[in-house]
Amino acid sequence: MFDEAAVLPGGFSMIAEKPLEGKVTLITGASRGIGLAIARRLASMGAKISLCARDTKRLESAAAECKQAGSAVVTVPADVARTADVENLVETTGRLLGPIEILINNAGIGYFGPIQNADERNWDRVLDTNLKAVFLLSQAVVPGMIRMGTGHIVNIASLAGKNTFAGGGIYCASKWGLLGLTGCMAEDLRAHGIRVSAICPGSVATEFGVPGGRDRNKMLQPEDVAHAVGMVLTQAPQSFISEISMRPTQKP
Ligand SMILES: NC(=O)c1ccc[n+]([C@@H]2O[C@H](COP(=O)([O-])OP(=O)(O)OC[C@H]3O[C@@H](n4cnc5c(N)ncnc54)[C@H](OP(=O)(O)O)[C@@H]3O)[C@@H](O)[C@H]2O)c1
Repeated sequence: MFDEAAVLPGGFSMIAEKPLEGKVTLITGASRGIGLAIARRLASMGAKISLCARDTKRLESAAAECKQAGSAVVTVPADVARTADVENLVETTGRLLGPIEILINNAGIGYFGPIQNADERNWDRVLDTNLKAVFLLSQAVVPGMIRMGTGHIVNIASLAGKNTFAGGGIYCASKWGLLGLTGCMAEDLRAHGIRVSAICPGSVATEFGVPGGRDRNKMLQPEDVAHAVGMVLTQAPQSFISEISMRPTQKP
């Protein structure tokens, strides 16, 4: 647990060098983009990391990067939209690293186009990945967190979960739903010492197909989101950041 005990005169506190030392952390969608940046950051903060994505090759290269921080890192290929994969992901992570204390629900995909051009498959794929998977993963880890009396679930949502725009119907529905689920889970679980938080970034410069021609140099960087996640996870036990909205300083 993050040691906040070392408070110096004047209210200054000593920041532990590895504030997440030994904490078992499962990160979905960790092979690239925001998930990989979060994995790198949390590994450097001392967490033991389990990385998941579907593409095994990219997952292995992400793990090699994270191992440079000296933390334990394992990879578990999984499609988070599939119940059997989620069960295997949580069981394998627990067996290899120990009980999961931190879950980062980051895996996500987009679909952008007018609703009249979309079909049921587009809806199912996006909603299953961006929303149902968060339900499945949370259900799988929460009993262990309740037993430990502590835990943190961070859901990577989006400003698209607060706004509407043409062509965004399916993606926005998934992220609006995710924010609703996050808030309700936070209330279900806070009495058990489990904090559930949402991060809502605007456009981030990754391989994710953000619609509209944007200047990538002015967009948020994956490391900016990782920094916010690190902040959320290092609150003192009595403090709980429930939601962060993130925007680039310059409009992209
Ligand atoms: N980029 C943005 O502008 C932006 C803004 C706000 C919020 N977000 C959110 O941030 C999250 C990460 O986005 P990103 O920009 O980093 O996207 P990205 O570069 O496309 O990376 C997405 C990651 O998710 C994994 N993934 C996708 N579907 C999966 C599935 N069914 N099972 C397991 N892993 C899966 C991908 O690996 P595989 O393909 O190998 O599975 C990859 O590791 C998403 O939830 C996204 O909605 C992004």
